[in-house]
Amino acid sequence: MQNSLYVRHLETLLKRYCAAMSAFKLDAIVVASGQSSYYFEDDNTHPYKAFAAAQQWLPFTLPEGCYIVIKRDKPELIWPAQQDFWHMDKPIPEGEWQSHWHIAPALNDDWLKSLPENVALIGPDHLGSLRHNNTLLDWLNYDRAVKTDYEIACMTEATDISVRGHLAAQAAFLSGASEFEVHLAYLKASAQDAINTPYPNIVGINEHAAVLHYEQKTHHRPFRPLTLLVDAGAQYNGYASDITRTTTTLQDEFSELVDDMDSLQQAIAAQAVAGMPFVALHDQSLIGVAELLKKHDICSLSIEEQLAKHVPHHFYPHGLGHLLGLQVHDAGGRQGNHQGHIIDPPADHPFLRLTRHLNENMVVTIEPGLYFIPMLLEKLKAEQPQHGCNLTKLERLLPYGGIRIEDNIVVGVEGVRNLTREAFAKYA
Ligand code: GLY
Ligand code: MN
Ligand code: MN
Repeated sequence: MQNSLYVRHLETLLKRYCAAMSAFKLDAIVVASGQSSYYFEDDNTHPYKAFAAAQQWLPFTLPEGCYIVIKRDKPELIWPAQQDFWHMDKPIPEGEWQSHWHIAPALNDDWLKSLPENVALIGPDHLGSLRHNNTLLDWLNYDRAVKTDYEIACMTEATDISVRGHLAAQAAFLSGASEFEVHLAYLKASAQDAINTPYPNIVGINEHAAVLHYEQKTHHRPFRPLTLLVDAGAQYNGYASDITRTTTTLQDEFSELVDDMDSLQQAIAAQAVAGMPFVALHDQSLIGVAELLKKHDICSLSIEEQLAKHVPHHFYPHGLGHLLGLQVHDAGGRQGNHQGHIIDPPADHPFLRLTRHLNENMVVTIEPGLYFIPMLLEKLKAEQPQHGCNLTKLERLLPYGGIRIEDNIVVGVEGVRNLTREAFAKYA
């Protein structure tokens, strides 16, 4: 990646932080990367991930115990100078980035003495007498929704890594592998350890594709493989990809539904342009799912009747997507301004994580789904006796589990960049 992208990213971050310092009358902001934490009553630690606002500043995976000090000039990186024979030293990564930083290895907290008077702390640590400022964090989170070119380049890399994993996962499934084997194929092809993926891989075969956050991985090979749903990502410099693919073994009524869902997903993704309220896109995706239910003879009611009776909500019970960045569900998705005003999701869509209007260079996921979830189908039948659903067809479709197709999209002014489809096209 060109260093100039990182340099411009730093300039943008510094501008954002300077504006925040003016608004909050601060002389400096300290951002903590955080420390690893221990399992209860144990001497093993949880997997560690740097606090996103700290990670955002540096072009490598940031270790624990770092502090970033932002004043109005060159930023300063306080690096933990370890004196511990149990662990490997953490060398400061080489690179051109160093010329843009003051780097200060520190054995203790003495560096705090050189801070100016009005300082705010953000991050998970407690540090001397520094005060946490959550209102400041809201301010910075609001800005974080719009990505710099460097951030988009990192997410392009993260997408590329993930797509290699998805292709290997599909191939493993089509040769009869178990969920666990598909998971291992994904990790190997994307060169990731399971603790480094941005979220636990979801690898569901057949009915398990209907479990939205299915995290088990069975070891037995399926007797009759029908569907594979893999929702899995990768990281690059801390930035995530979040991609779902649904693969089928047969050409049949279910694979026709998958093909139509793919067309719906792409039609919705193409509309993720600047100015679009994301809630409106979510509404369109619900209409799209109602149209699929009708076209495929799953529900005979008109689109209007289906929506009035919440029929599609029982097949598609989650939100259309979310902001993506350093966090998989990136910060600020429901935040209406710098001051932290929250835009609640509509009562019909309580799980929608993104309620803002889209801005240029936001990165979002577009991930409509259609599942056969026994619990929700029973609820629909109990609450809406006139549901219009074809119960015979539903019985046939239950063993297929469901469909989700998820791409990572860069919002543009007149069109979008679909990072996921670009990467799949590269390997086609
Ligand atoms: N993988 C989590 C999500 O799609 O939101
Ligand atoms: Mn997602
Ligand atoms: Mn996902």
